Amino acid sequence: MSELLVQEEAKKRRTFAIISHPDAGKTTMTEKLLLFGGAIQLAGSVKGRKAARHATSDWMAMEKERGISVTSSVMQFPYKDHIVNLLDTPGHEDFSEDTYRTLTAVDSALMVIDVAKGVEARTIKLMEVCRLRDTPIMTFINKLDREGRDPIDLMDEVEDVLKIRCAPITWPIGMGKSLKGVYHLYNDSVHLFDARHAGKVLEGEVIEGLDNPRLDELLGDQIADLREEIELVQGASNSFDKEAYLRGELTPVFFGSAVNNFGIAELLNDFVEYAPGPQARATTTREVAADEPKFTGFVFKIQANMDPQHRDRIAFMRICSGVFKKGMKLRQVRTAKDVKIPDALTFMASDRGHVDDAFPGDIIGIHNHGTIRIGDTFTQGEELYFTGIPNFAPELFRRAQLRDPLKMKQLQKGLSQLCEEGATQLFKPVSNNDLVLGAVGILQFEVVAQRLKDEYNVDCSFEAVNVQTARWISCDDEKMLNQFKTKAASNLSYDHANELVYIAPSRVNLQMAIERWPDIQFLSTREHG
Ligand code: G4P
Repeated sequence: MSELLVQEEAKKRRTFAIISHPDAGKTTMTEKLLLFGGAIQLAGSVKGRKAARHATSDWMAMEKERGISVTSSVMQFPYKDHIVNLLDTPGHEDFSEDTYRTLTAVDSALMVIDVAKGVEARTIKLMEVCRLRDTPIMTFINKLDREGRDPIDLMDEVEDVLKIRCAPITWPIGMGKSLKGVYHLYNDSVHLFDARHAGKVLEGEVIEGLDNPRLDELLGDQIADLREEIELVQGASNSFDKEAYLRGELTPVFFGSAVNNFGIAELLNDFVEYAPGPQARATTTREVAADEPKFTGFVFKIQANMDPQHRDRIAFMRICSGVFKKGMKLRQVRTAKDVKIPDALTFMASDRGHVDDAFPGDIIGIHNHGTIRIGDTFTQGEELYFTGIPNFAPELFRRAQLRDPLKMKQLQKGLSQLCEEGATQLFKPVSNNDLVLGAVGILQFEVVAQRLKDEYNVDCSFEAVNVQTARWISCDDEKMLNQFKTKAASNLSYDHANELVYIAPSRVNLQMAIERWPDIQFLSTREHG
């Protein structure tokens, strides 16, 4: 396989995820991107997944939902000369640590904001995760067909709250009932809005030049205001600076209405042009460039398969360099074993096919019978581990309550195996025999309880526990660490990798501990060892 091919294929890839608060329009946007990318058939099944999301108490429905989300976890589609990989970030009840960790496997993100609601809580959290790697972010302000907030106010809010500069690329002409279109500040063209276009990929009329007399004809009184506003916007806002965007300091902003397919072509065209291709990635020994000929990749997510009878799981691997070929032998660095991968899955949006070749930026799914872990690195023999695929401190905690005390062994085994999938984390307090489960999404407790029952025959519930947050402990001074271990014992636990964790009943408690122990580090993420 020539080096040139890897370079060419890598250059074509755009691997990204959507970050947004629930209901801002992520599902609709995903569908429309696939529609524009020509993978129309799938548009329905993204919706289908949403319909299933309410039936969480029904295990079969949950399995079905999770099953569908295996296929929609990664959606690959071609656009112009590029291959786009869109990674799903579970967002509603299925929100979990996977959502955060998926952001470690992308090269850029698209932030979708509801024009009426502005910056919301979940967006702030996801943005914090993007910050860990300075991920470049494009912004789409959605639902322009509804009355919303003033675009300048919205951009101010993004700048203030998310601490990223905004550079408008398109600008809305009216809003709600008076939405007439968007103006592309750099192409100097107006794309007219026609609500009847909903559901189809119709272009809508595009008029070149803000001075075009046709605009006077069509927009009447509105055109004078628009020309004035654009002059103001061009004078007062940041202009697009590609380097600042790539450093994660500036976000290009687009306006539109996802449900009406409006403003998406502008976004997608600029996305494939400016968004970064596969980036070089840090490892324990060196930086790996995407166009290196030898294969490297890491696992960022493990998902149970549809059939609960088989403990078969799919490991999602991001390819960082080289080429993956069907039947290839890869070194699993942690175990130092060479494993043959005969049946990797690829994620063409139209169906889940089997991989022949896959390139940097692509995601492949590998069948896994419990031997692969999150954070695992695969290479063609080189001893290196990708870094930056951490565990995130859980935000919700529950104590496992066993109904049949004789099943303790099975419970421990089940919990530690399920925690290896990475959506939940297990903590064992130093001072008692509790088993405390931590997650970042509430549905995870229900999923674990149900799977313990089905797969391990353990009847267990999860009850409230007085824990609000957790921090991994690190300290180079052994004496200090031992002192801390004794003094803070009632707040300490070990996680499933046997790492020491401070478990705080409140934010205030955590703050006080941090102040009292200035030489101890309290970390909100932990790298996989
Ligand atoms: P999410 O995945 O971020 O949670 O959002 P989703 O796409 O499901 O969108 C949330 C709601 O907002 C949906 O309405 C969707 O139709 C609507 N929506 C998305 N884009 C636009 C837009 O550009 N304009 C308007 N007016 N609405 C938009 P729903 O009533 O919850 O669902 P549905 O019955 O329409 O499917």
